[in-house]
This record gives sequence, structure tokens and C-alpha cells, in this order.
Amino acid sequence: MKNTFTGAAAEKAVGDGGKAWSSGGSGSHVLARRVMQLVMFLVGFVVLWMFLYNSASSFGFPTFSHYFIDDDESSQILGFMYQAVYDPKLESVLRNASMEHKTVIMTTLNNAWAEPGSIFDLFLESFRLGNQTQKLINHLVVITLDQKAHARCLALHNHCYQLETKGDNFTGEAFFMTPDYLHMMWRRIEFLHSVLAMGYSFVFTDTDIMWLRDPFKQFYKDADFQIACDYFNGRSYDLNNMPNGGFTYVKSNSRTIWFYKFWFNSRKNYPKMHDQDVLNKIKKHPFISNMKLKIRFLSTSYFGGFCERKDEFDKVSTMHANCCIGVENKVSDLKVLLEDWKRYMALSENEKKQSHISWSVSQSCR
Ligand SMILES: *[C@@H]1O[C@H](CO)[C@@H](O)[C@H](O)[C@H]1NC(C)=O
Ligand SMILES: *[C@@H]1O[C@H](CO)[C@@H](O)[C@H](O)[C@H]1NC(C)=O
Ligand SMILES: *[C@@H]1O[C@H](CO)[C@@H](O)[C@H](O)[C@H]1NC(C)=O
Repeated sequence: MKNTFTGAAAEKAVGDGGKAWSSGGSGSHVLARRVMQLVMFLVGFVVLWMFLYNSASSFGFPTFSHYFIDDDESSQILGFMYQAVYDPKLESVLRNASMEHKTVIMTTLNNAWAEPGSIFDLFLESFRLGNQTQKLINHLVVITLDQKAHARCLALHNHCYQLETKGDNFTGEAFFMTPDYLHMMWRRIEFLHSVLAMGYSFVFTDTDIMWLRDPFKQFYKDADFQIACDYFNGRSYDLNNMPNGGFTYVKSNSRTIWFYKFWFNSRKNYPKMHDQDVLNKIKKHPFISNMKLKIRFLSTSYFGGFCERKDEFDKVSTMHANCCIGVENKVSDLKVLLEDWKRYMALSENEKKQSHISWSVSQSCR
């Protein structure tokens, strides 16, 4: 399972050994012994490697990871070992925020969205206004992208981690599709890959997503990678859905660790595209189906947004200010949205069932 590659290597070693045995079966004991030694060496190496992998990952860091990935296709198939050393500070923040099954909620934050009265305040407020979402804030890790956002996070929240961004300056508003924006989005995918490699599963949420109900009640039990959609066609398995990378639930396992690396590396084939567009390009790639990555798309009835607005107040878990460009527009519409939600929550059970309320948003976001 976890050691797919190890298993394949062992199988291959045994297979090759078997072939050598039968072809050398004419009494050549020396050759047979050599082959035997080689097989034993390979098996020993694999066992040692499995031991290192397992013991290292139970301590969290440093850890050895294995991928099938590089830029050219032949090395993707052959595979190679990759070693990474993780920041112990990150490990301690994750451990501290983790719920059961090593799972955390994560978001990224820069100063433009962290300023008082801006998106981060609304995001935190949504957890307080949501139904049974208050407790989830204890499992939220905020990844800050600059010094100011970090200071603001520490003032409001318990689990903040500043991402080392040598030379990068993410402090201003990163305008949609500018080089800074693209760089920030890809940095995020790379970072989430390392979180998975550390053995943590996560719900990644953009901060312009309001948490109104506990989403864990709606997730599919058996999926590796679940993602919200700008537009959902009603079929959760259908790769033709239009996913939105702002909200994902990803379980840490060998398939997802491989997939995030594959996704990140695919950026080189599609320059000037952001992570979400590249995901749409690669989602039908045969490597992904060969890896048996279990992908599910989440319904906009539960994981909604401004792109495809549903007025199903009795279902909604999260609402995303997607299809909306500009921090001012998002802030003003998200405020309206939270007012709608408060009004809904204040209704009696009967009124909730009978009323036909709809979101009064998409005022600035048009
Ligand atoms: C762990 O979390 C608690 C609050 O939940 C906080 O006071 C403490 O500083 C955290 N420790 C680390 C290492 O982040
Ligand atoms: C919150 O959710 C619970 C269970 O999901 C439900 O029984 C309760 O009525 C909800 N509260 C409000 C205020 O809607
Ligand atoms: C980062 O960019 C902001 C403007 O977006 C600027 O005010 C600030 O000085 C820059 N910081 C560094 C360290 O270059």
C-alpha cells in the first residue's frame, strides 16, 4: 500500500532472479550462487529501505519519500528515491493542531488578506457563526506568507506557521494571473506536497471560503483526493467537472504524495497556467488512473460558491467567494453572505423549513 514502489521493486527482483535460475539450470552452480547473492542483496536492500522509511516517518522527520516522478517520462516510470528534510517547527505546529488520524485544516495567508476588517477576519468569524464549526478552529493551521500576516495570525490564532519564502514578496495583493500570483499558487502546491509526505492529511481551504457547517460529515469516506467545484455536473466521479483548488480534502498516502509531486512538476509543461488549470489538463492523464488515485468531486449544494450559487441553506457546508476578483469585492459580498447566514440561523426550526430564503450575494462580484 504505502510501499507500492518497494513492492514493485521486490517483485521485479524476484522475477528476474527466477528467470536467471531457470536459464542457468544446466548445472552451473557458480552462476546460480552469484544470482542468489544478487537477489539476496536486492531483497536485503529493499527490507532495509522499508525499515528506514517506516521508522523515519513515525518520528515525522527527517523522512524518506519515494516518488515515481521526474520531468521526463522514462524516469517517471523507473522511479527514484528522493530525500527531504522537514522543518521541525512545522511538524510541531501540525502535531499540535492535529485532530484524530493526523488530519489538519490548512489555509494560506498573506498580508493583503490579513489586514483588520479583511478576508481573514471574516473567515475566522464564519467558524464562530457556523453550525458546529467552532471546535474546528482548534485544528486550523494558518500558513503565513509574510511577516505582517504572521504577526496578525499570532494575534488572533493559536496555530500559525510562517513559510520560508526566500526572496519572495507575497505581502501585497497578488493580482489574478500575474507572475506573483502564479508563483504563490505553485508554492502552495509544493508545500501541501510536503505536508502529505510528512504523513498529515488535510482539508485545504482558501480564506475566502466561509465555514458554515462541519464539512467532515459530507466527505466521501473512501476517496484519496476530494475537491470542490466551480461548476458541478451532479456526478462526483466525473472528471469533466470543473474543480476549484481552493477547497480540497486530501488523505496522506503514497498515491496522493505521488500525485501532488506530479501536479507540481506538470507546471513546467504548462507555463503561465495556475494550479487549477493545470489540474484540468492533467486530471485525465493515464498516470493518474494507473496510480489508482481515487478522485471525487464535491457537490456545490454542500460546497458552494458564487460561480454556481445554490440556495440550499439546509445543506450548505462552505461558501466560496469564487468567480469574484478583487479583495474589496470579496469582502463586501462575504459580509452580505454572513448576514444572510445569521438571519437563517436565527429562524425557528419551522421557519427554516418553510421559508424560501436565498443568498443576497453577487452584488459586487459580478
Ligand atoms: C500548541 O497549541 C497551544 C494552544 O492550542 C499553544 O498554546 C501552544 O503554544 C502550541 N505549541 C506549539 C509548539 O505550537
Ligand atoms: C445545527 O446542526 C444540528 C445537527 O446537524 C441541528 O440539530 C441543529 O438544529 C442545527 N442548529 C441550527 C441553529 O440550525
Ligand atoms: C514587498 O512588497 C511591498 C508592496 O507590495 C513593499 O511595500 C515591501 O517593501 C516589499 N518588501 C520587501 C522585503 O521587498
